[in-house]
Amino acid sequence: MSLKDHKKSLSSLRHSKPVVLPSMLLCDFGNLAREIDLLEEAGVEALHLDVMDGVFVPNITYGMPIVEAIRKLTQIPIDVHLMIQSPAKYAKAFVDAGADLISFHVEAIRSSEDADLLETIRAMGAAAGLAINPSTSMEYLLPHIPRCDFVLVMSVEAGFGGQAFNPVAIERLKTIRAEFGSELLLEVDGGVNVGSAGQCVAAGADLLVVGSAIFKQPDYCQALAHLHQTFVSPSLGRAKAT
Ligand code: DX5
Ligand code: ZN
Repeated sequence: MSLKDHKKSLSSLRHSKPVVLPSMLLCDFGNLAREIDLLEEAGVEALHLDVMDGVFVPNITYGMPIVEAIRKLTQIPIDVHLMIQSPAKYAKAFVDAGADLISFHVEAIRSSEDADLLETIRAMGAAAGLAINPSTSMEYLLPHIPRCDFVLVMSVEAGFGGQAFNPVAIERLKTIRAEFGSELLLEVDGGVNVGSAGQCVAAGADLLVVGSAIFKQPDYCQALAHLHQTFVSPSLGRAKAT
């Protein structure tokens, strides 16, 4: 197997931005292969996998075996969002399982050495990102941004799908984009739907994580098409949401 290269997945995402990444939290795990097929048929170019440990957040989801199973089913980049207390302990296992991008939370950083995980992840061949909850002050994130391949701006408190979009994310996307330039990939996650996706892109988001607005729709292809329409015309999405 060839050595992983984080630059490859980053350049493919940059090339196709804005990219919608389905959050697999709400997919039908009993029919995983079919779900991946349907998403690929709908033109999905990357997947977002939410890993929760029941400690860092009150919810528990899945771990390496599911990442590995999905890796066997598709070639598209897999973005693993670690909502866990000790990301350094498990990052390598997730890269080995097939993650191409890995983010961990700024709220999980306890010492300056903890942030070195960004370089460690990159050295293992995955792109490295930091996530921040809406309730956490940006001062904890900003000093680390120059070390990130991407930043994950949460638009809900991490832990559960199906929450309402917090517009503080829009201001944060704008601030980070203005301060750190166009190279940095910006991802937004939580409550992204046809009512909020267009504004996120206009504010600088490159990667949009979408759970409910895809998996609670009967037709993934149509759900994706509606989201893409709002990138061209954000007001269209707002009209649809009301
Ligand atoms: C929340 C997760 C999200 C979320 C997305 O902690 O990181 O990925 O489940 O789902 P929706 O789009 O339903 O908010
Ligand atoms: Zn997520």
